[in-house]
Amino acid sequence: MNSTSLTDRLLLANLPVEERANGQRLVRALSLVEEKLRGVEEELERRTRSDVPTISLIGEYLVDGGGKRIRPALLLLASRLLGYEGEIDVKYAAVLELIHTATLVHDDIIDGADTRRGRVSVNRRWGNELTVLFGDYLYMKGMKVALEEGDVRVLDLLADVTLAMTEGEILGAERRGSVDLTIGDYLEVVRRKTALLFAAACRIPAFLVPGAEARADTLWGFGLALGTAFQLQDDLLDYTASEEDLGKPVLSDLREGKLTLPLILSIPQATPAERAAIETVMREQAFVSVPVSAILEIVDRLGALEKARRMVEEYAGRARDLALTLPEGDPRDALLLAAEYAANRRK
Ligand code: IPE
Ligand code: IPE
Ligand code: MG
Ligand code: MG
Repeated sequence: MNSTSLTDRLLLANLPVEERANGQRLVRALSLVEEKLRGVEEELERRTRSDVPTISLIGEYLVDGGGKRIRPALLLLASRLLGYEGEIDVKYAAVLELIHTATLVHDDIIDGADTRRGRVSVNRRWGNELTVLFGDYLYMKGMKVALEEGDVRVLDLLADVTLAMTEGEILGAERRGSVDLTIGDYLEVVRRKTALLFAAACRIPAFLVPGAEARADTLWGFGLALGTAFQLQDDLLDYTASEEDLGKPVLSDLREGKLTLPLILSIPQATPAERAAIETVMREQAFVSVPVSAILEIVDRLGALEKARRMVEEYAGRARDLALTLPEGDPRDALLLAAEYAANRRK
């Protein structure tokens, strides 16, 4: 597999200089689960092999392409916090990554994305037909791996979350091109398409440890808030980051007809001409009649990036407040730093 260490994936490079100290703490905190994360990589490699060569080929391409593995890391940290001593957490962490990867390959077809994780996207390389089928394979592989443990509670949760993710993508697709999206509509899509999987990652270990159920709601709420911050930051990075850092194109949401946080926050105060410019880009799904700079000026004039930042911070703060009610120690520190990472990441 890709030799990129967890540190590289998640951390120091992502953090601005002033946050490096925290980055280093996070590296230390994550070393708590480093070995288990290696186990997750092994699971992913093993579970994406098939005697149908195309599956193994695409599987290897995706697993090797890296990804931050933040959902597995959260699951393993929550498991550590609860004092779990077995190995089933590694398996469930791999399951979450399989489901996440399935949603990404399907999402890239829907969004017509050419790049993912710094490489040509699977849809671009193998075409939509094979990519849909490969995504289906990953979903069901994730479920089958989870089924090996036979815990109906976990299976039920995974099914619910996966269904909600599909609902989120459908709602998002239906609202594509619409400039009348409210912040409430937007947050509902975010909850379903992204935040619930984070919540499941944090909550699942409570099924593994007798007596840990009392922590389940807190872990769930923590994951939900962190996952929301993560997606809001993703939408903000679409306006502020570089393609090199993100490993996927920037300023692409609007081109894909997606109104996300910075513009949702701009529209109520935009002039009719500004609103018309936004509508034009959404309709043309390209910066043809309206240049990128015009959109960036609107966002800038209305202070939308700062407003969006404050919302990201608000969700990260919610996650932090919940984490602070968990038992003290290195795993809790790591969860706190993960929330900070979700809100401040640059990639
Ligand atoms: C991308 O998820 C989709 C969003 C929820 C924004 P990640 O940013 O976790 O993607 P990888 O796994 O690191 O590539
Ligand atoms: C997140 O939405 C995708 C899923 C959770 C399936 P985005 O469309 O913003 O994700 P990226 O930007 O393509 O990674
Ligand atoms: Mg996308
Ligand atoms: Mg995005």
